[in-house]
Amino acid sequence: MQVAGIRRTIQTLSAEETLEVGRGIGNRLSGGEIILLTGDLGAGKSVLAHGIALAMGIARWRGSPTFALVHEYDSLPALIHVDLYRLRQDEAEALGLEEYAVPSMVILVEWADRASEYLSELPRTQCIHVELAHGPGDTRMLTVTTDTAMQEEGETC
Ligand SMILES: Nc1ncnc2c1ncn2[C@@H]1O[C@H](COP(=O)(O)OP(=O)(O)OP(=O)(O)O)[C@@H](O)[C@H]1O
Ligand SMILES: [Mg+2]
Repeated sequence: MQVAGIRRTIQTLSAEETLEVGRGIGNRLSGGEIILLTGDLGAGKSVLAHGIALAMGIARWRGSPTFALVHEYDSLPALIHVDLYRLRQDEAEALGLEEYAVPSMVILVEWADRASEYLSELPRTQCIHVELAHGPGDTRMLTVTTDTAMQEEGETC
């Protein structure tokens, strides 16, 4: 089932503003969502992820997962933070994210384009994709695309 999604573009002028956009997204989560973050190095994916975590009541933010690959926070819903930057597609698939694709958890993925097909097959209640792009100076363009209904396997948002 593909239901028309919502797409909006937001320009932020500072890291603080991107953090606020993240808070806005984090405040609306109820569990089962998958959040895909894409954009170049330094585009602000981790800043946005931090904002999402803050809104979920996570005070001890551990930054981007590197050695651990996956950071799990025991918020309600739980937050699973993944960074695929250093991983090949097959390595990303070996993370076994299926285990976390449940209504009591939210999966948040940086560099989601590294394994987009695999991620599109994970069950979720909603998919939120944020593409971040550099603008002049400290500006960033954030394009947020959400799908408003349950998706079937293989559909991306
Ligand atoms: N408008 C803005 N939004 C977000 N970050 C900004 C903005 N302006 C400046 N910055 C700075 O840009 C950097 C963004 O870094 P961040 O780690 O979030 O990027 P990233 O997309 O996660 O990069 P990487 O792929 O390397 O992990 C930070 O140093 C932040 O302070
Ligand atoms: Mg990052």
